[in-house]
Amino acid sequence: MSPYNIVTIDGDGIGPEVCRAAVRVLTEACGADRLRFIAHEGGATHYVRSGQVLPPDTFEACRSAHAILHGAAGLPGVTYADGTEVGNDLHLQLRFKLDLYANVRPIRLVRGVKSTLADWQPGQIDYVIIRENTEGLYASRGAGVNLRSEVVTDTLVMTRKGIERVARFAFQLARKRSGAPRDQRRRVTVCDKANILRSYAFFRAVCTEVAERFPDVDIDYAYADAITVHMLKRPDFYDVIVAENMFGDILSDLGAGTIGGLGMAPSAELGDERGLFQGAHGSAPDIAGLDAASPLATILSGAMMLQWLGDQQGDAALSDAASRIERAVESVLAAGEVVPADQGGRARCSEVTEAVCRQLS
Ligand code: IPM
Ligand code: MN
Repeated sequence: MSPYNIVTIDGDGIGPEVCRAAVRVLTEACGADRLRFIAHEGGATHYVRSGQVLPPDTFEACRSAHAILHGAAGLPGVTYADGTEVGNDLHLQLRFKLDLYANVRPIRLVRGVKSTLADWQPGQIDYVIIRENTEGLYASRGAGVNLRSEVVTDTLVMTRKGIERVARFAFQLARKRSGAPRDQRRRVTVCDKANILRSYAFFRAVCTEVAERFPDVDIDYAYADAITVHMLKRPDFYDVIVAENMFGDILSDLGAGTIGGLGMAPSAELGDERGLFQGAHGSAPDIAGLDAASPLATILSGAMMLQWLGDQQGDAALSDAASRIERAVESVLAAGEVVPADQGGRARCSEVTEAVCRQLS
């Protein structure tokens, strides 16, 4: 069977280290012949060298690959004239041009990780934030109005198609899960500010229409301000949360903060045919090249990639490898001997990577 073609984009800062770590673990889990990794350039460092944040050959390779694995992108100080960061255009161009409309962000507390929320144990925090990834406030990226540097605006854009498909994705995911830890109820929480803005009232209304086709899944509503309190005081209530782009960006960092931080936060950015997999963290340039970063968010994103590919291709071996990687990461953390710095330990990026590989073998 021919190998799956995976485009890797190391990117900036710690991106190369964590991306290499994930490739090492994926190869250990799947064998050297199942996945072919093809490296391509992209990000702020490449932009400084070449003037291109997403080179055409990288985009074409991403378009035709089975999946995309990314390290991190963005360097402070590498900005456009309007002040926005260049490196982030790598993600945003890929999201918009490949139509990766569902940004899947699991928030799960695993053994060996201490939650910042007192008394919550592994298994009690286990939900997924589904962030709409191609419109909302981000539709204005590079398109806002700037009048004489006196009035500057960005418009929040909602479309029926965009809401329907991300809501459908959320309900379909809830159907596959076993419900919220608190009550095992399959539940989608629609997060918005429908009380204030028509665009969010429209978001809520379209999600509610979609819900009618999923009578086996409860629908729940929460305003974006209120849910930040609920995520801290009753995280076990949540199963799947669906939100507009900007709200999803903010809430997924808050959620990550309750399960060990962004170093424990993987992501899958999915369209109907393509997927981009990366840790939800940034490029952490202050620790770049020091072998100090935790590779776990990118390794877990690699596991999400195998799970998604396994589902897409009907390849049970990939789905099995995904589960083995998740179990290996949990075993390393639960053992407490090789612990990354962001979890209170001193282990290097390479040491954590090899510990996960030893668990796999
Ligand atoms: C994220 C990041 C990105 C975003 C940046 C890097 C473009 O914060 O993926 O959460 O704003 O979506
Ligand atoms: Mn973010």
